Amino acid sequence: MAVKKQSKAVKKQTKTVAKKQPKAAAKKQTKAAVKKQPKVVAKKQTKTAVKKQPKVAAKAETSQTVGGQYGYFDDANKEYVLRNPATPIKWCNYVGTLAFGGIVDTTGGTVLCKGDPALNRITKYISQMPCSDFKGSTIYIRIKEKDAVRILSPFVVPTCTMWDRWECRIGLSYTKWIAEGFGLRVTVTVFVPAKSSTLIQDISIENISRKNMEIDVVPVYEFSHFDALKQLTNADWVPQTMTVEAHKENSGHVILEQYAFMKKQYAVNYFTASQPADSFDGDRRAFLGFNEITGWAAPATLYKGKLSNSTALRGDNIAAQMFKFKLAPKKIGRVATQLGQEKSIAEAMPAIKKYRDLKNVDKAFTDLADFWKNYLTALQVKTPDSSFNSMINVHNPRQCHTTKNWSRYLSLYQLGFGSDRGIGYRDSSQDLLGVMSHMPEEARVLAENLLSVQLEGGNAMHQYFPSTMEANEGDSREKEDRPKYYGDDHLWIVLTVASYLKETGNMEFLKKEITFYNKKKELEAREKGTVLEHLKRSLAFSWNDRGTHGIPHLGFADWNDTVNLSTGAESLFNASLFAKALLEMIDICEAIENRELAEQYKNWYEEIKAQVNKTAWDGEWYIRWFDEKGEPLGSSKNKYNKIDSLGQSWPVISGIAPAEYAKTALDSVNKLLNTENGIKLSWPGYNGFDPSVGGVSTYPPGAKENGGIFLHANPWVMIAETIIGNGDRAFQYYNQINPAAKNNGKISEFESEPYCYPQNILGSEHKQFGLARNAWLSGTSSWTYQAATQYILGIKATFKGLSVNPCIPKAWKEFSVSRKFRDAVYEISVKNPNGVSKGVKSVTINGNAIEGNVLPILPGKKHIVEVVMGE
Ligand code: GLC
Repeated sequence: MAVKKQSKAVKKQTKTVAKKQPKAAAKKQTKAAVKKQPKVVAKKQTKTAVKKQPKVAAKAETSQTVGGQYGYFDDANKEYVLRNPATPIKWCNYVGTLAFGGIVDTTGGTVLCKGDPALNRITKYISQMPCSDFKGSTIYIRIKEKDAVRILSPFVVPTCTMWDRWECRIGLSYTKWIAEGFGLRVTVTVFVPAKSSTLIQDISIENISRKNMEIDVVPVYEFSHFDALKQLTNADWVPQTMTVEAHKENSGHVILEQYAFMKKQYAVNYFTASQPADSFDGDRRAFLGFNEITGWAAPATLYKGKLSNSTALRGDNIAAQMFKFKLAPKKIGRVATQLGQEKSIAEAMPAIKKYRDLKNVDKAFTDLADFWKNYLTALQVKTPDSSFNSMINVHNPRQCHTTKNWSRYLSLYQLGFGSDRGIGYRDSSQDLLGVMSHMPEEARVLAENLLSVQLEGGNAMHQYFPSTMEANEGDSREKEDRPKYYGDDHLWIVLTVASYLKETGNMEFLKKEITFYNKKKELEAREKGTVLEHLKRSLAFSWNDRGTHGIPHLGFADWNDTVNLSTGAESLFNASLFAKALLEMIDICEAIENRELAEQYKNWYEEIKAQVNKTAWDGEWYIRWFDEKGEPLGSSKNKYNKIDSLGQSWPVISGIAPAEYAKTALDSVNKLLNTENGIKLSWPGYNGFDPSVGGVSTYPPGAKENGGIFLHANPWVMIAETIIGNGDRAFQYYNQINPAAKNNGKISEFESEPYCYPQNILGSEHKQFGLARNAWLSGTSSWTYQAATQYILGIKATFKGLSVNPCIPKAWKEFSVSRKFRDAVYEISVKNPNGVSKGVKSVTINGNAIEGNVLPILPGKKHIVEVVMGE
C-alpha cells in the first residue's frame, strides 16, 4: 500500500516537474543568460528535460517495487544500491577517517575535513539548504552537439539531469554512481585511499551511442574557511583571507592551490587530476558568471568553450577544471581527480604524482576493499535471519567504525561548527566498545586521548577537539547555577578499558602513564597517573559524590543530556553505571591479583546495590532520579516522565536488580514503553517547557528524549532481556529497530537511511510516529552490535577466554559465528535441538569436550567449536 502511494506521488511529482519546471526554468534561464547563452541551448535543454524526465520516473518505479522503494541491499558487494535520487531526506555515506575524510551525500555533495571538522574544514556544505545548494562539490558533463551544448550531472543535481538509468552505490567507505543516458555511461567513484590525505574522484565516461562524441568533464569543489563556523558568521574577514593560485605544469596538468592567508605556511588545499586540464577556475563568481544568478544549475562559463582560468585573491574560492574527451563509440575516457591537504604543494607532490597514475588509483581502491575484508572477518555470523546477518556482517560494524571516527562531531545533523561539539567523552567511550573486537589497538589510542581529558579529581571533561586536545565542559558551561560536570562521563571509560584488556590480554596497558587534564597547566606540567590510577579515580569520584539517598549525584546531566535538575539531584542511572563499572574493575583487579582493591570495590558494589533497592523501587519499576529535594522523577507519582527505560535496563545490566524486580521492571517497559517502531525512552512526554527539568521539555511529546524512541536505549533493554533469559523478546526488540528491515514498506514513514541506525524515531505520542532522524552517529550502533553479538549470539571476550552464552529466539535451530580472538579464529557452530532460548549443554573444541562455556585462549589459527544448547 505504502509502495503504491509513494509511486503515485513520485509520478505526480515527476509530471509536475516535467511540465512546469523546465518551461519556467528555461524562460528564466534564457532571459538571464541574455546575450551570451545561445537561445537554442535553453530550448534544447527544455525539450530534453521534458522528454527524459517521465521515463526515469517510470524506471525508478519499477526498481522500487523490486528492491524496496528507493533501493536494495547488494550483500555480495556489501553495498546499498540507491536507484531513486529523490530520497525522502538527504542520505549519505562516509569516506576516509577523522584524520582525513568526511561525508559524501547521495547526490554528490561533500563535507571534507582533515583532523577536525570545526577547525580544519575543507569544503563548504550547508546541510539545512535544499539538496541542490551548497554541496561543496559536483561534476558537470558537457556534451557538445552541432549548435548547442548540453550540461548534465551524474549526481542528478544541480543540473536536474534525468538519466535513463541511475544508481548510487553506497559502499564501504566509498560511493559509486553509475548514470546512463544521452549516449553516455558515466561512472564516478569517490573514496580516500587508506592513510592518505587525498579525496579521489575516479571518473569514467563511456560512449554508448553510435556516433563520435566530444565531451568535457568539469569537476568542481567549493572551499570553506578552515574555521567552519567563521565561514558562516564572518563575511568580512573570511573572504579577505581566502586565496586560490594556479600552478600550470609543462605537462599541462594544473594544480589549484587554496589556502586561508594565516595558514599559508602550514596547510594548503590542492586540487589536481591525472589528466592535463584544458582550463580551470578558482573564483566562484567567474565560474558561475552573471552575478551568480543562474547558480550551480547553469554556470555561465559552461556555455562557453572554456572555463575562464580565474584565480582568486579573495572571495569565494572554488576549484574547477575542465577535461576534454573525444570518444568514438564504445570508447572510455577516464580522469581521476585529487582534493587534498598538505603543508605545501612541494610536500603534496609525492601523493599527487602517485595518484596521477591510474594504476595506483586502482590499487588504492583494492587496498581499501582489503582493509574492510580484514576488518569484517573479525566476526562473521550465519543465522536464520537474513537482515540480521546483513546488519551484523556488514552495515553495523561499518557504522561502528564510523562512530569510532566521528563520535557525534560531523554528520548532516551534528554539523561540526564551532565549540558546540567535539569528541564526546561518553560517546566515544561507548563507541570503542563497538570496534573492540575489530581494531583493539586503534581503540586503545583513542581511549588514551579520552583518559588525557580526565581531571585529577576523577571526573572527565565532556568533550575535546582532536586537533588541539583542548577540552570543555559541554552544555554545562551555559548554566551558571548547575554543576559543571556530567555524572556519568568518567565511568564509561572503565568499561572501555576493561573491554580492551579482555580482548587483547595486554595488562601492561594498566601501567601506562597518561596525564590528567588541567587547563591551567602546560602539558608537561600536568599530573600523570597510570591507566589503573585513572580508573581508580573515576570510581572514587562517584563513590565520594553521592547524595542523600547514597546514590551518585546527577551532575549537570547523566547519559540523558536533557534532564538537568538542580544541584543535589541524584541519578539512579549513574548508580547502575557505577555498579557496572565496579564489576568490570573487580574483574580487572582479580586478573592482576590485587585482592585488596577487589575487596574494596565489592563492598562499594554491595552498598550501591542495597541503596538502590532500598530507595528506588517504585512498585512496578525503578525510579530514575531524585531531585534536589529528594522527590522522585520517573515514578508513578509523576504526571510526566513516569517511567524511563534506562531506569529499568541498567539495574539488570549491572546485576543490582534482584530477579523478581528485574522481571517486573522489564515487563513494565514492555507494557508502557514498547511500540512496533522501538522502545520509547520514557512516558508520558512533557507537554510544555518546564525549566526545572530543562532541555527534555523543549521537545514536543514523543520527540527525542521526551518520550521519543531514542534508539541508543533500545539495545540496553535487549541486553537486559537476554540476561533474564528472554531470547524471543530480545530478538523482537532487535527486529523492531533494524533499519534494513524497513527497506521494504516502512521506509517512507521512516525516511532515514536503511543501511545505518538513526539516533531517534518519533514516538507514539507524536503525530509522525515512526519518522527517524539523525542517521549514522549514534551510540545505537555500538550497543546494538554488542547486544546482537555478545548477548543474543552470546560470544564475549573475558580474561579467561571467549565465553559462549547465547540467548536466542526459541525458533532458531542453529547458527554459527566465526570470531577472531587474540591469535586464533574460533569457528563456532551452535545447535539448538530442543528449541530453548538460553543454556549451554555441551561444548567441544576440535572434537574434545570442555567443562563450562568459556573457550580457552588458544594459540594457532583455526579452532572448530561445537556447542549444543539445552537445559
Ligand atoms: C546524544 C548525545 C549523547 C547522549 C544522548 C542522550 O546522542 O550525543 O551523549 O547520551 O544524546 O541524551
